[in-house]
Amino acid sequence: MTAIVAENLYKSFEDVHAVNGLSLTVQEGEIYGLVGPDGAGKTTTMRLICGGFNPDKGSVSIRGYDLAHHAEQARSQIGYLAQRFSLYGDLTVTENLHFFAQMHGLKASEWKPRAQEILQFVGLAEFADRMADQLSGGMKQKLGLATALVHRPKVLLLDEPTGGVDPVTRQDFWQLIIRIVSQEGVSVLVSTPYMDEAARCTHVGFIERGKMIVEGTPGQVTTRLSGRMLELVGEPLDELRHAAKTDADVEDVQVFGDRLHLRVKVGTADRVIAELPALLQAKGLKVNRIRPIVATLEDVFIELVEEVDHSREGNGHGTQG
Ligand SMILES: Nc1ncnc2c1ncn2[C@@H]1O[C@H](COP(=O)(O)OP(=O)(O)O)[C@@H](O)[C@H]1O
Ligand SMILES: [Mg+2]
Repeated sequence: MTAIVAENLYKSFEDVHAVNGLSLTVQEGEIYGLVGPDGAGKTTTMRLICGGFNPDKGSVSIRGYDLAHHAEQARSQIGYLAQRFSLYGDLTVTENLHFFAQMHGLKASEWKPRAQEILQFVGLAEFADRMADQLSGGMKQKLGLATALVHRPKVLLLDEPTGGVDPVTRQDFWQLIIRIVSQEGVSVLVSTPYMDEAARCTHVGFIERGKMIVEGTPGQVTTRLSGRMLELVGEPLDELRHAAKTDADVEDVQVFGDRLHLRVKVGTADRVIAELPALLQAKGLKVNRIRPIVATLEDVFIELVEEVDHSREGNGHGTQG
């Protein structure tokens, strides 16, 4: 059975084509990462899939239930954590869970044991009686996740669940997501702007301007740049960056920690490796190493966004921002 099938979805807000002919499939047991810059259409896609919005065109089915024709069955399969979810600050952790359980029509005999189980699972059992607004940011995020899981959904939609959360809490949260998939047999669609999170997904889809640009396993997606990424170590980094850009075959240079990632034109890596160091050294810069590397998802993402921007300019549809 397939967890989510979204076909040819369209959704506009006046003149903004927020989702513009987008299709995606999430297989059972998968963690599908929806990646894209701000305004790409991630949240709108999530809301179309959870039934929060009706599409202008296109269809969604959840585990075989068509959202338009079997809305109730389809929606009962879904747990949704919105990008800006709200908890009731003056209710306790347990009372918040109760509220969401009631919304899903759960009886006391169902939600009480489930609430204990799920609080244990997310690590909030000892805070069951704490007011929600007394929780730390990370704990609120976990309670949000618990509310999305209280009715035992088989499909979990998480819209930028780690936005604004510190790195340690993000790690924690991802451990939870991975455990949910393996222990509860849940399939996950998660949106994120973070490439390290995208790399943890079993499948990624890059979206931009409401369209799917590239899709596949992280491995498949990064082969898109095979033979075109070089790592350059040297100093000073900022001057190396500017100087490397003057090589006509170097398309882009990004700083990755203490080194540079150079993206070169197809078939030019050997020449750049052979000739660029001398050019940089002639400018008084120090080159310790230059070598081919396997592209990261972030390299791919940067390339894709640039490509979309270029085609936009080329089409004469350029818009600011
Ligand atoms: N309710 C709305 N009314 C008008 N425009 C919207 C609305 N929701 C989203 N948009 C616009 O649709 C585009 C996609 O937004 P969104 O789906 O929130 O993207 P993302 O989640 O990737 O940042 C943006 O240009 C945004 O301004
Ligand atoms: Mg969003």
